[in-house]
Amino acid sequence: MRYFFFAYLLSIVLVVGFAGFRGDKFTHTPIEIFNDMDQQAKVKAQGSNAFFADGVGSRKPVTGTIPMGLKIPDGTAASGGFAVYGFSHGSDYYNTGKIGDFWGDGFPEQVTVDAAFVRLGRERYDINCTPCHGRAGNGLGITSQYGMANIANFSTPSFLNPQAADYRSNGNIFDTITHGRGQMGPYGANIPVKERWAIIAWVRTMEISRTAPLSEPSIRDAWTALAPPPSTAAAAPATPPAAAPAAPAAAQ
Ligand code: HEC
Repeated sequence: MRYFFFAYLLSIVLVVGFAGFRGDKFTHTPIEIFNDMDQQAKVKAQGSNAFFADGVGSRKPVTGTIPMGLKIPDGTAASGGFAVYGFSHGSDYYNTGKIGDFWGDGFPEQVTVDAAFVRLGRERYDINCTPCHGRAGNGLGITSQYGMANIANFSTPSFLNPQAADYRSNGNIFDTITHGRGQMGPYGANIPVKERWAIIAWVRTMEISRTAPLSEPSIRDAWTALAPPPSTAAAAPATPPAAAPAAPAAAQ
């Protein structure tokens, strides 16, 4: 056992003697026992490289190709150079939801509210907003079952009634999507400006559809066309019988 320790000590002395301590400065190339990746087979910027026929390490992009994700905008954000991405720039109604110091309502002239626009809004709403606000916009999305409280319900007077003191105009909703509000986070960095307006169009569509009166002929026609066919098996009448004496009147 004693000899083992002598041999062990001797080998340490020899290794340190030949290789030196780590971090020592050498005037000659050190002996590398464990080279710790000091030497790697890699192309160094501006270095020569025998692998390529022209001997140049740094390669130029292949003719006619554009690197992915590297489209350089034509100008600054202020001059509209980033408009290609469709995110907010400038201070007009379209980009801020504000006209001067006030929230605007209605839709800016840059967008045309037609069926395709509403469909886009529905798709973007379903992707970005349903987890919390629910598919019907009633604030009962899946997160409401896991403790997220007070999610805005779009069929309340603050969204439906322009006369209400806390009415949310389109510009106001635009700002909420862009910057978030209260417990809701901002989505301005995720949703381009045009799609934010499309989402607002869909929110309004949901509101109208939930409050549309059946007395309105076009609504009634649409309802009749979409209503499920009456079941023949169960003789349940489509409308409840006019006289239902057995049902006690609910206490109001
Ligand atoms: C992570 C959950 C969540 C998502 C996703 C979400 N919201 Fe909200 N939203 C909330 C909550 C919570 C509130 C209530 C905020 C408060 O009053 O503190 C709210 C409030 C709002 C309000 C009312 C703000 C006000 O003026 O009081 C609007 C409008 C709104 N959301 C629109 C949207 C739209 C449009 C989307 C999709 C782009 C969206 N939200 C996505 C959770 C969410």
